Formats: sequence, C-alpha cells, structure tokens
Amino acid sequence: MRDLNDFVSQRAHAVDASGIRKVFDLAAKLKDPINFSIGQPDFDVPDACKDAAIDAIRRGHNRYTQTQGIAALRERVHKDLSAELGRDCGDVFITSGVSGGLFLAVLALINPGDEAICLDPYFVMYKHLLTMAGGKLTAVDSYPDFRFHADRVEKAITPRTKMLILNSPCNPSGVVMTSEEIDAAVALAKKHDLILLSDEIYEEFTYEKRLPSPASMYERSLVLRGYSKSHAMTGWRLGYAAGPTQIIQQMVKLQQYTFVCAPAPLQVAAVTAEDCSMTDCVETYHRKRDLVFGKLARKFEVVKPQGAFYIFPKVPNGMTAGEFCTKAVERNVLIIPGNVFSAFDTHFRISYATTDEKLARGCDILCELAG
Ligand SMILES: Cc1ncc(COP(=O)(O)O)c(C=O)c1O
Repeated sequence: MRDLNDFVSQRAHAVDASGIRKVFDLAAKLKDPINFSIGQPDFDVPDACKDAAIDAIRRGHNRYTQTQGIAALRERVHKDLSAELGRDCGDVFITSGVSGGLFLAVLALINPGDEAICLDPYFVMYKHLLTMAGGKLTAVDSYPDFRFHADRVEKAITPRTKMLILNSPCNPSGVVMTSEEIDAAVALAKKHDLILLSDEIYEEFTYEKRLPSPASMYERSLVLRGYSKSHAMTGWRLGYAAGPTQIIQQMVKLQQYTFVCAPAPLQVAAVTAEDCSMTDCVETYHRKRDLVFGKLARKFEVVKPQGAFYIFPKVPNGMTAGEFCTKAVERNVLIIPGNVFSAFDTHFRISYATTDEKLARGCDILCELAG
C-alpha cells in the first residue's frame, strides 16, 4: 500500500504550515498568555450589523446569492469606491474575505512560471498562493525602514513579472505608503505593464494622513478590501474586489467553482456595515499605537507604524527572532518571529489589538528581555 503522504499533491507539499498557526498551537497550551500574535481586532462587530445579520437570516436570506454577490452591496461599494478613486472603479464583486479575493486574483492571473513582486516583509499568504499557482513571489528587501524603494523594486522586475502587490497599511510593519511612494509604484507598474494588486484590508486603520488608493491613478489595478478588520468580522468571511471587467469576470467565473458565493445573510448585513462609523474604534487603536510605540522605542530599534495594528521591532543583541520569541513565550508573551513574514529573522511582530493593560504588561516584559 502506498504511504498516504504519496497521495498528497506536490502543490500541497510545496506549501509549509503557517508559522502563525504554530504560535496559535503554542498559545493553546499556555494559561492566560499575553497574546500579541492575533491579527484581529479586540472589539466586536457593531450591534447594528449583528441585528442586520440576524434579521437577514429570519427574512430568508439563506440561499445562494448570485456568484458575484448581492446587487445592493455591489452597487453601494461601486458608488463609494468610484467616488473615492475619482473614476469608475470598474466591476465589483463580493469575495469570501480578502483571502478569497487574493486566491481568485492569483488563480485568474498567474500561469506556472509567472512572477509577482511585493516588499519583504509581506503578508504570508502572498507567497503561498503564488506557490500554489506554480508561480513565484519575489519579495524585495525593504529593511530597515520598510519603505517602497522604487530602485530596488525595479531591479526585481523580469520579463515574467505580471503583478506588483502593494499592501498599505502593511501587515506586519504597519507602514503606510507616502504619496511619493504611491506615485513611484504606479509609474513602475505603467512602465513595465504590470497589474497592480492593492491589498487595502487595513485602509480604515490609518492614523496619519489618509492618501488616495494607487488605483485612483492606474486603471489596471485590482483593489481588495474587506470587513474582517474594519468591522471585526474575521469570522464572517466578507470582502470585495474591484477592477477591470476582463479580470473581475475571470475571478467571478472561478468563484463559481470554488467559494460559490460569500455568505448570503452576511452580505445583506455588510450593507449596514457600510453605514457604521468605525472612527471611535480606529481612534482607540491610534492611542494603542502610541502606547506601544512609546514603550518599545525606549529599548528597541523600531519604525513608528502609521496604520494597521501591528508593530515590527528589531530583536536586540544579535539574537534571532526565533530565540527572542522563545524567551518571550517563557514569560507568557506570544509574539511572531519575523521569518514568518520575511527572508530575515531579525524582527518580530506584535499585534496591539488587545487591552491596554496587556499591552503595558507585555511591552514591559519585552523591554526587560531586551536587557
Ligand atoms: C494584509 C492582509 N491581507 C488579507 C488578509 C485576509 O483577510 P480576510 O481574508 O480575513 O479578509 C489579512 C488577514 O490577516 C491581511 O493581514
């Protein structure tokens, strides 16, 4: 009999388990850890959205929707996004989270051997999705400031490069691109004829000046946004993709044979979400950013994040991030080593989406460990 592992596809073998999952498994064994590893808000879904979801279920919105999602939500997103971009944003369809949008974008655009570029450090899923599609992700070193250095990015472009992935505000660095950087990224995409995939899942969490999406300057952009982070709906699996008709139509076709549609009653509730102001929650996270940065900057070399809810300090004293994270776990603090997001293991990620009390206590422990 064949070993069961022999049945597993090369595709599945080529993807290694998420380093974040390994930390989650560790967390399950600790008693009341200070958990800085979770990439989701600590506030709950707004009551108005919960009521709308329950009401939608009671009213019978429990069947498949059209593959592209319900018209009320698509039309609303189309109107608002087009107004924001200052041009028609193209076609819009509702995805199963931004993850769903990323998966379908890669599936629709990447042939075996094709390449995509993003900055290193990057959101882990990008690399694995490219691998699954038989493509390759080239992650361009953005250390130590995590900025978009156009010269470095341009050097990484080859004739096989199809797509430039931007993620601003960034997971894991919290860095938000400046308007000069956005201009430079758009100029590169135009010059080298690339699709610009703009993962804007954290756009609500921007603490300094809010800048226009790169899609406002370049029609060959795919904008991916969602409700997971902005409205604390990580378990609802809702997002949307907007972009050129030819590409969106291909993504919708592939959605038909994969996700089928995003959860029906929750699509109805997302129309309510569009009317919920999340300003207070964002303001709270702005304050948490200041609290965490203020504490860590005393002991760590760290870039001040301008968005999302992550901070990415450098490990002190020549330790690897893996070693530092092990020391932190011994003190009941869970953080994620940089090599989960990067070719380098010199930094670690903190998610500051937790209580002020845990933030203060956890940061003090990390500062003690830094010596
Ligand atoms: C940069 C980035 N993109 C996409 C996602 C996926 O979000 P979801 O599928 O929950 O919408 C995440 C989640 O952590 C993320 O950090």
